[in-house]
Amino acid sequence: MRVLVTGITGFVGSHLADYILNNHPDVELYGVYRWRSRTENIEHVLKRFSNLECDLRDAASVRAVIEDVRPDRIFHLAAQSFVPSSWRAPSESLVTNIIGQVNIFEAVRNLGLDPWIQIACSSEEYGMVYDHEVPIRESNPLRPLSPYAVSKVGQDYLGYQYFMSYGLKIIRTRGFNHTGPRRGDVFVCSDFAKQIVEIEKGDREPVIYVGNLEAKRDFTDVRDMVRAYWLALDGGCKPGEAYNICSGSCWTIQSVLDMLLEMSGTAIRVQQDQHRLRPSDVPILLGDNTKFRQATGWEPRIPFNQTLKDILIYWRERIHR
Ligand code: GDD
Repeated sequence: MRVLVTGITGFVGSHLADYILNNHPDVELYGVYRWRSRTENIEHVLKRFSNLECDLRDAASVRAVIEDVRPDRIFHLAAQSFVPSSWRAPSESLVTNIIGQVNIFEAVRNLGLDPWIQIACSSEEYGMVYDHEVPIRESNPLRPLSPYAVSKVGQDYLGYQYFMSYGLKIIRTRGFNHTGPRRGDVFVCSDFAKQIVEIEKGDREPVIYVGNLEAKRDFTDVRDMVRAYWLALDGGCKPGEAYNICSGSCWTIQSVLDMLLEMSGTAIRVQQDQHRLRPSDVPILLGDNTKFRQATGWEPRIPFNQTLKDILIYWRERIHR
């Protein structure tokens, strides 16, 4: 079986590559990268798959790669994924996320291919969720609160539309927050863990800078998330449908901070940094994963405190005095 992963050099893509290479040795794995992508996340497996240069915003480039690989399954993970960046450069998020995906769909369609396609949609699409609307089901209204979230609604509905119009076998996975080792240092758990480790190593004053600690998020370990993505295309899920992938529990960002500080044991002062506050922040994301669990049998295995410990270990190994 030929499998193509977009965004393979990224956080989730690299974990999906690990998962596939370790569990499905029969797979011929292909990834795509942009010329300027950093490869540190996949350095350890670079020799075990074919990595092809491609810019998803360039239709000709996407068509050439898909024609070359002729994949049986596509995992479309590449995206501008950091919510605050989407306020600073909204067009960039919209073009990368929406047009990049259209280019994949059009290439598949025009080449007459029939792969299963997973698209990485997001719980951010639910946006303004009121307390009486949780846990969030796939039928909840979408009220996006950032350009990023709008771009994910666009991807999500394009997935539906290309299934309805052309019969493309698209599974729309709505991933809730996921984290773990290799997470970029702008995302909350990794950001806090990295600051703590820098303080532990004496690289900075014992002050941790934070944003909105009241938000609530439903976290899943990235290693559980990529197993879910694999299962999404492995039978059970229906093309055209959307599926929540989440743990079904949520934590305030304050409690995430408290857990990390307790694991470290270092005396650290907490200070809010105005620049870390967003024009609008999604107050609560707490998902219901029943539909996906019933379709695939998936359930998360790694408890959140283990994930946080592993992120601290990751930064301790990377930051040397
Ligand atoms: N990044 C960051 N840094 N977030 C902070 C901080 C901080 O210092 N302090 C508080 N937060 C709060 C944010 O305001 C937000 O409410 C929450 O922590 C999580 O922020 P992020 O880790 O940046 O993730 P996100 O929830 O905005 O988006 C992530 O999850 C989505 C799925 O729900 C990303 O991974 C998206 O790509 C993904 O789609």
